[in-house]
Amino acid sequence: MLNEDICDTMVKMAKDARQKAYSPYSNIKVGACILASDGTLYGACNVENGSSSLSVCAERAAVYKAISDGKQEFDAVAVVADTENPFVPCGGCLQVMAEFDIPEVVMANLDGDIRVMKLAELAPFVKYMGINHVKERYESHFSVFDELE
Ligand code: THU
Repeated sequence: MLNEDICDTMVKMAKDARQKAYSPYSNIKVGACILASDGTLYGACNVENGSSSLSVCAERAAVYKAISDGKQEFDAVAVVADTENPFVPCGGCLQVMAEFDIPEVVMANLDGDIRVMKLAELAPFVKYMGINHVKERYESHFSVFDELE
């Protein structure tokens, strides 16, 4: 579904968006790019706040930007930061990706290391997260433990 060209474009857009990060508290700049299923791309950065819990991660900013532009179906999210290894999204961002069933996550750093993983690999219980949390029958929350065996 994700070819190399689109991956590279997403990482480039995420890097460009990263330059705009507002992160005076952590000094960590993160950039993201989301690919809507119609091919539209949106870049976004992290936006911090003096009241730290109000800070928004780059990946979530990208999702919210796309949603606000009327998109609700997505193929992938890319994220990039100046880290030694490809940057891994936080659990909160995985939860937001789960809400919208975003199947693939492109993780990158500024050195050009790229790792693509399925959201289901990063969050193995993804089908019990997001909107599925309320859609699934209550009993199904217990069946998740069967899958561990
Ligand atoms: N951050 C992101 O943008 N994405 C993540 O997945 C984790 C963390 C941001 C939030 C904050 O501005 C900074 O990185 C340090 O945590």
